[in-house]
Amino acid sequence: MKIYKIAAIPGDGIGKEVVPAGQKVLEALAAGCRDFAFEFEDFGWGGDYFRAHGAMMPEDGLDALRGKDAILFGSAGDPHIPDHVTLWGLRLKICQGFDQYANVRPTRILPGIDAPLKRCGPDDLNWVIVRENTEGEYAGVGGRAHQGHPIEVATDLSIMTRAGVERIIRFAFRLAQSRPRRQLTVVTKSNAQRHAMVMWDEVAVQVAKEFPDVRWDKELVDAMTARMVNRPSSIDTVVATNLHADILSDLAAALAGSLGIAPTANLDPDRRYPSMFEPIHGSAFDIMGQGLANPVGTFWSCVMLLEHIGEAGAARRLMEAIEIVTATPALHTRDLGGDATTDEVTRAVCRQIAATAR
Ligand code: IPM
Ligand code: MG
Repeated sequence: MKIYKIAAIPGDGIGKEVVPAGQKVLEALAAGCRDFAFEFEDFGWGGDYFRAHGAMMPEDGLDALRGKDAILFGSAGDPHIPDHVTLWGLRLKICQGFDQYANVRPTRILPGIDAPLKRCGPDDLNWVIVRENTEGEYAGVGGRAHQGHPIEVATDLSIMTRAGVERIIRFAFRLAQSRPRRQLTVVTKSNAQRHAMVMWDEVAVQVAKEFPDVRWDKELVDAMTARMVNRPSSIDTVVATNLHADILSDLAAALAGSLGIAPTANLDPDRRYPSMFEPIHGSAFDIMGQGLANPVGTFWSCVMLLEHIGEAGAARRLMEAIEIVTATPALHTRDLGGDATTDEVTRAVCRQIAATAR
């Protein structure tokens, strides 16, 4: 029997509710199966850890994660600690430390979910956004001088390397090639940003030659937002820079019905390091501790985790269970207009999994 070592990092806010829920559904899958099991290790890093130790995670935290098969992450964010401290001290430290350069964000309108676009059926919105996840606008390069003085200066430098751009665009072409429509949209802003984004476009043209069977086009990021709303069915796979994809993926999640459903995978496609899976919603302090959080974003992230570790069958079973549950309005959480609790949705998914046990 294969035993997968999973690091669980709930982090802050509703992360502490949805990650244990994710662990429960993974346990439910393993319970009905003789082929694999999970060995979870919980890491209590985040805001509380910061208050006790002055850092979001220990100095040598990455070493504790290195040997894991995957990481299940909740969210980082605490109303009493500046956002850039929580982000850079934990999530980005892991993404960048483990060179998880491909951030993959699928969006679909799941059965039973009421999405805001008129004239947009479930088949018209089936996207995957690939986000560059290690450099660009999130490179962390920049600084401040003359702090507090009228002549204060501050910079955030966006860094793009040819190697970094090539690997993310190649990853996106490969992903597009594996999907039925074999179609990729490369998002850019090379009209205004005339250096790095022009290189980005050039790399796209070069890499496209390796994928003659993938149809591709280029779209400026501002026009892309309008296209997502007006012509959703013209989109399949999308690749964009770190910040562009951050913004587009929130729009995508909202168009699919709720931020509470959307999953993401921070992948090291070269498998030198563990990859990290997390719901895209944040810590949502306004609803924390009330059992109202939608665990579906975490469950769908668990589907991606299972696909990554090679348990495609279990991934399919979990996705089917999720879709049966979303199709039931009585099992909708507040973000979907219902009044089901995190626990009710979790138990329903676990019951569905048990019902399909082999
Ligand atoms: C995301 C989030 C993060 C980001 C936040 C929490 C800093 O919005 O994963 O999309 O901007 O990367
Ligand atoms: Mg975001």
